[in-house]
Amino acid sequence: MSVSSPAPAPSPSSSTATSAPAPTQADLLDFVRRIADDAELIASLPLDPEGRTWVRLEGPGGSEAWLIGWPPGTGTGWHDHAESVGAFVTAAGELKENALAARLPTDGWKTLELTDGVDRERRLPAGKGRAFGRHHVHEVLNESPDRHAISVHAYYPPLPRIRRYSRSGQVLRLEEVERPEDWQ
Ligand SMILES: [Fe+2]
Repeated sequence: MSVSSPAPAPSPSSSTATSAPAPTQADLLDFVRRIADDAELIASLPLDPEGRTWVRLEGPGGSEAWLIGWPPGTGTGWHDHAESVGAFVTAAGELKENALAARLPTDGWKTLELTDGVDRERRLPAGKGRAFGRHHVHEVLNESPDRHAISVHAYYPPLPRIRRYSRSGQVLRLEEVERPEDWQ
């Protein structure tokens, strides 16, 4: 008498084999550029001379996207988006990005003295943008004295932690880690 062995159970991973791959930096940059070209959507963002305004958008592949309005003289302060990659583009006005061209240790420090030459500055007039990798430390500013700026941003994975830094000369200090629930 022969005994047949039981049929193997279907692999639990087989049901996820068709799910879309995570969006890349290039996918996010492509998305923010397309949104920035949508004049009607850009014009729908409420603007407030007293502070930044936000509208959340659905990004590609489950990413998080935002339309942001920047009154003259506003900025983010130094921060990074922890493990998320991202992209942003200016849709109206002009933004400036100050960034660090250095790979910083991600955890286990409170202050860090930067070497000379790690600062990078980019002017981003309407239509200009960039993508960035994980742990990209930057600040974004609207330095115009009189003109609002509007930009489109996307991040993946969504709802990243935001690590905020203060800066004094070449010394960067970790001030706080914001979790998404703090600013939603
Ligand atoms: Fe940022």
